[in-house]
Amino acid sequence: MSRPPVYLKQNVVAEPLHNQWYAWWFLASPMTAPLFVANLHVKIMESFVANPAIHVAALKSPALRGGPYLNCGVERVGEVKALLERTLQEESLALRYAAAMRELDALLASAEGYSLEELYPRVPDLLRGYVELTYDLRNRASARFFEPLLYRSPFHRESSQSVSLRLVHGDARPYVFSTPRLDDSRDGDLQVRLPFKHEAWDTLFAMRRTPAPLEAVRDALGIAPQDGDTFATFFTPEPPRPAPRYDGDGVRVRYFGHACVLIESRHVSVLTDPVVSYDFPTDLPRFTFADLPERIDYVLLTHGHADHLMFEPLLQLRHRIGTVVVPAGGGGALVDPSLKLMLQHAGFRNVVTLSELESLPVPGGELVGLPFLGEHGDLDVRGKLAHLVRLEGKALLMAADSNALEPRLYEHVQPHVGPIDMMWLGMESEGGPLSWMYGPLLPAPLSRKMDQSRRLNGSNAARAIDIVQRLKPRQVRIYAMGREPWLGHVMVMGYHEQSPQLVESRKLLAHCREHGVDGDMPYGQAESFLR
Ligand SMILES: [Fe+2]
Ligand SMILES: [Fe+2]
Repeated sequence: MSRPPVYLKQNVVAEPLHNQWYAWWFLASPMTAPLFVANLHVKIMESFVANPAIHVAALKSPALRGGPYLNCGVERVGEVKALLERTLQEESLALRYAAAMRELDALLASAEGYSLEELYPRVPDLLRGYVELTYDLRNRASARFFEPLLYRSPFHRESSQSVSLRLVHGDARPYVFSTPRLDDSRDGDLQVRLPFKHEAWDTLFAMRRTPAPLEAVRDALGIAPQDGDTFATFFTPEPPRPAPRYDGDGVRVRYFGHACVLIESRHVSVLTDPVVSYDFPTDLPRFTFADLPERIDYVLLTHGHADHLMFEPLLQLRHRIGTVVVPAGGGGALVDPSLKLMLQHAGFRNVVTLSELESLPVPGGELVGLPFLGEHGDLDVRGKLAHLVRLEGKALLMAADSNALEPRLYEHVQPHVGPIDMMWLGMESEGGPLSWMYGPLLPAPLSRKMDQSRRLNGSNAARAIDIVQRLKPRQVRIYAMGREPWLGHVMVMGYHEQSPQLVESRKLLAHCREHGVDGDMPYGQAESFLR
């Protein structure tokens, strides 16, 4: 006799992993993943195994959190060593790829402006046929990858992918970019080794809202008999609270935290840069997975940074997303992996790209791509885009981490976009240094001075005010600040009252007040209507 159908509990965390490391964009592309495995993960694990006490001591200092220190106790050194050894064995191709990239870089550095034809046979064997060699107009040689071919090569390792499932009862989660997820099965953690693109993930996550038999999803995911009891703790007969679609007039705008905003009309639902809290009793009110509509027509991604393109919520929402809209980018430059390819290979069926000033019609309006300046350490990254969302005669600009380095851009943009009802802008005026995100891709380390000068900075008050003066939005919302506690695993912010990001934000809000613009910096949860 089959048992009654059950729901997936709203407080089950699902972390996509790559070799047990939290999966983010650079681990999703086979062009960049081997470099992060070889130049970051292996190095951190080797360092920890050699001297775990240094890591433990470093992490006692708040200033060093977010650095390359593995966050676990000395007693787990054996487990880290085992993971290191397995990584060295299973990822031997990644290590060879990283070595070949160093060779390729030396070869390119030897080019002096003469034909690159003779270099092709000297490209490291592993990379031959995957790159085109080109000069820029100043005769500096570089390699462009045929990234779609890499996804069809042994460099794309779906067997490295897994998802860690466990129950949480609060926001606190350890920082994930310098520490692998070890086996915590004693604490109720289950790592399921199944590629992200597998349909069984959709079966599982659909059960947040639609009940189904436990046995069916257990078998689809291939849960081992000894894990059956742990797996069963993730389910409940209790249905979630209802989350009806918005069916009123105009546009309802709900802030889910960070850069995640749900924009709904009677005809369409749009979710930006999904980062969503799990649902558990808490004193900090927020919208959670349980508040998202059954169908999300469009998900808009602004750029690949880990707090904007986050596989963790995306994978859980995949079955209910109509279309994912991503910046075009993806020209095969190492620093600019294609967001479209990484999502397609993670099982998203309908991914469309948008370029600057390109429009995509949607029911009752359109989505328009707008330039996104800066915030990438002056690297030539095309995979970034601000989105103009036009619905029911209203216009919202989702500018993410745009840094108005050149205010005249917005003068040129203004006649094209017209009046803006609500502008959302990040004010992370002091971001991390370039190497913090891009270090493993660099052929040689940057000098400290260069690294510090090329920080991943969003707009400061002066630049944000420049945008406001030129685009004249009726309402301004500061977002994408990493303030919500459910961002703690991907961002180390530790704001205090005098943090430059908050000081700059307050200056922008003061400017808005003085000029009759409705300004706000929502925290946790907010809702407004444009009618
Ligand atoms: Fe960013
Ligand atoms: Fe950001």
